[in-house]
Amino acid sequence: MPKSAATKMLDPAPILRRMTALDLEPVLEIEAGFTAPWSREMFLQELRQEEGTAASLVAEIGGRVVGYILWWFVADEVHIVNLAVHVGSRRRGLARRLLDEVFRRARTRGMAIATLEVRFHNTAAIQLYEGLDFRKVAIRKAYYADNGEDALVMLKVLETQAGPASEPGSAVSAPPAPDGSRGEAII
Ligand SMILES: CC(C)(COP(=O)(O)OP(=O)(O)OC[C@H]1O[C@@H](n2cnc3c(N)ncnc32)[C@H](O)[C@@H]1OP(=O)(O)O)[C@@H](O)C(=O)NCCC(=O)NCCS
Repeated sequence: MPKSAATKMLDPAPILRRMTALDLEPVLEIEAGFTAPWSREMFLQELRQEEGTAASLVAEIGGRVVGYILWWFVADEVHIVNLAVHVGSRRRGLARRLLDEVFRRARTRGMAIATLEVRFHNTAAIQLYEGLDFRKVAIRKAYYADNGEDALVMLKVLETQAGPASEPGSAVSAPPAPDGSRGEAII
């Protein structure tokens, strides 16, 4: 049987594994391309919290870290706090693969929803999330300190084997931004 297009794009398949401090060189190289990159200390702080509410994965291809995702478990919610793929490995389904793995783990822990904030003008990421059934639920005004850009809050109801988890009745109460969120509008 011919391979599906998605399978071909991920050939060789990435290895997904927990991020460790030893991964930070390639991770920081990827971050360096962004307008407001996370520092080494920010990553270390997340890694120190693992086993509790924070967790992470890297995607490795041919022994090289080409993507990563970090998230928090907060009550019945999985909140994505960072996601990136090396510019040379994009559009191969890696971000989707990382997110799917987080959703799988979240469902195993009985989480009902996934949430995240994304820059208002980050079209690539918004299309990625919409393709995974996230919907826009709120705007946090001037959320990003570097350029004052608004954040879109996006939410996905995690399907369980018994069907979708019950729809949350109110706007998501996502964790605060490191620089302090400055107002939220429901959309
Ligand atoms: C956003 C990002 C993580 C996507 O990673 P990726 O591995 O290239 O994404 P995928 O290959 O899994 O893409 C899945 C889908 O997302 C959408 N998508 C991804 N990149 C896109 C782009 N540049 N333009 C439009 N749609 C895009 C497409 O629908 C794509 O499916 P398709 O390739 O079948 O059309 C990557 O571009 C990145 O690291 N950007 C910088 C960091 C960032 O913005 N992180 C998100 C913070 S909220």
